[in-house]
Amino acid sequence: IYRLSTLFEYVHAASLLHDDVLDNADLRRSKPSARQVWGNSAAVLGGDFLYAAASAIAVECKDLELIQLLSDVLKRMVEGQFLELEHTHDWKITKTAYMEIITAKTATLIAAACTSGAMVAHADDKTMRHLGEFGLNLGIAFQLMDDLLDYTSSQEAFGKPVGKDLKEGKITLPLVYFVSELEKGEGERLAELFKSQKAKDKDYEDLVRRVRTHGAIERVRSEASEYVERACEALGLLPDSPGRRSLMELGTYILTRRR
Ligand code: FPP
Ligand code: MG
Repeated sequence: IYRLSTLFEYVHAASLLHDDVLDNADLRRSKPSARQVWGNSAAVLGGDFLYAAASAIAVECKDLELIQLLSDVLKRMVEGQFLELEHTHDWKITKTAYMEIITAKTATLIAAACTSGAMVAHADDKTMRHLGEFGLNLGIAFQLMDDLLDYTSSQEAFGKPVGKDLKEGKITLPLVYFVSELEKGEGERLAELFKSQKAKDKDYEDLVRRVRTHGAIERVRSEASEYVERACEALGLLPDSPGRRSLMELGTYILTRRR
């Protein structure tokens, strides 16, 4: 379990080192990002190193099923990032495409972390499935809330600038809902303004304010809590234990976190 948690922490950290390069992000967890301190090349190499170190741990575990799970999840994460890239500045992105992106880039890793715990403990297939289901739904809820906080939080609380997704050309669910209710032509006008890089700081602030005061926020929050409920239902199928209780609490954390 110790080696496994190290492995997942390495993959997670590697993916964020690379993600900040892809997103040109200068802040991570309230501190200058690795790419900001050491440059893009060092951040990419650092990510590669951690990823290689994670693979070495998987090999040490001498468990082919685990190695298979890990390679599948890495492919899915990269597919998620590719899909996100394809939809950069795509103001017509569908909710289905958005859900596919967040499932692949975020939820699959959390699902695999949960499944693999059951795997190395030689749990039965049903337990593995329930834990995987828990991780997947929790992961979706996490990313929904992360994308919501990008509109509702403040940089001090969130540790990264608010409105950053929009600046990066990421059209996330709050904006998808907001745009779907605009008057005809208004969506195209906004898309044009933000795509053309002509938008000023004030345009970003205005749009963030409009999304904030729109029903989209409540809609996304309630969807996130439905995913948490689904996650807890899956976990509820397993026998009660201190571990299960700790995992359950993660749901509340995800829905109430400010950062
Ligand atoms: C953060 O999303 C990024 C991810 C959840 C996944 C990143 C995955 C990769 C770069 C591919 C896999 C690479 C390796 C080496 C394993 P975000 O940008 O929405 O979140 P943020 O606001 O915290 O940056
Ligand atoms: Mg990012």
